[in-house]
Amino acid sequence: MKKDEWNVMWTEPKADSEQGDAHQRHAHGHPDPVLVEVAMGLKPGRSLDLGCGLGSNVIWLAKQGWDATGVDFSDVAIERAKMRAKDSGAHFVVADLRDFDTEERYDLVTLFYVHFDAEVFDPLIRRAAKMVKEGGQLLFVGHDKSASTQMAEHVKGHNHGGEHSDAHDHGHKHEHGHAHDHGHTEDTEKSAQFLAMLTTPEQVTALLDLTLIRSEVALIDSHGNNEPIATTVVLAKR
Ligand SMILES: C[S@@+](CC[C@H](N)C(=O)[O-])C[C@H]1O[C@@H](n2cnc3c(N)ncnc32)[C@H](O)[C@@H]1O
Repeated sequence: MKKDEWNVMWTEPKADSEQGDAHQRHAHGHPDPVLVEVAMGLKPGRSLDLGCGLGSNVIWLAKQGWDATGVDFSDVAIERAKMRAKDSGAHFVVADLRDFDTEERYDLVTLFYVHFDAEVFDPLIRRAAKMVKEGGQLLFVGHDKSASTQMAEHVKGHNHGGEHSDAHDHGHKHEHGHAHDHGHTEDTEKSAQFLAMLTTPEQVTALLDLTLIRSEVALIDSHGNNEPIATTVVLAKR
């Protein structure tokens, strides 16, 4: 999806809108369950979350004592993240992950549900790994390819916008009358593009010059709506 589409996605829902359901976990500011599990075993240090959305993970880390930064190209999301961060100490940066890089090194670099074509994804993961300092860790969490059928059901009839090389909606719900009336061919094409971006643990680990700690497909309730879905989870250490 393009930046403008993400900006619309991250625009605060009106009080009478059902869009709030779509952002259930974010609406409640809950961190990702895998992040909680991983970070609980770590000493707080510097963290960087790539594609942070409304910043729930970043703010949670900051509250746990981390010097936490989030990056996203949606200025709407970052603006809202900053407002939610209040005095948590969390930092946010507007930047495009397609070319984002930094000389800074972090104790924890995270990517949650950022899905791109290989031409963007592969260099992004390699750059993210470089951002991990000696002794630090990288955590990737994303929809797994084995969830294709479940995800296909999800995207069917929904507008996933997007071109190749843009991170996609990872399942914000649009079922409340938001389904768009695409032609069958367009739907099939978009669905295929989206599904092509789903990951496998092997695909991610192959890009890393790090020592693997965990690489698996786990059933995760990522949206906080009691619908566990097959998820690539890769944790690695420098
Ligand atoms: C599916 S959301 C995931 C948000 C958050 N990581 C989470 O797990 O809730 C993907 C995020 O990636 C961001 N994104 C998509 N393409 C991007 C790009 N090229 N550069 C920076 N951020 C991007 C979107 O704005 C969105 O916030």
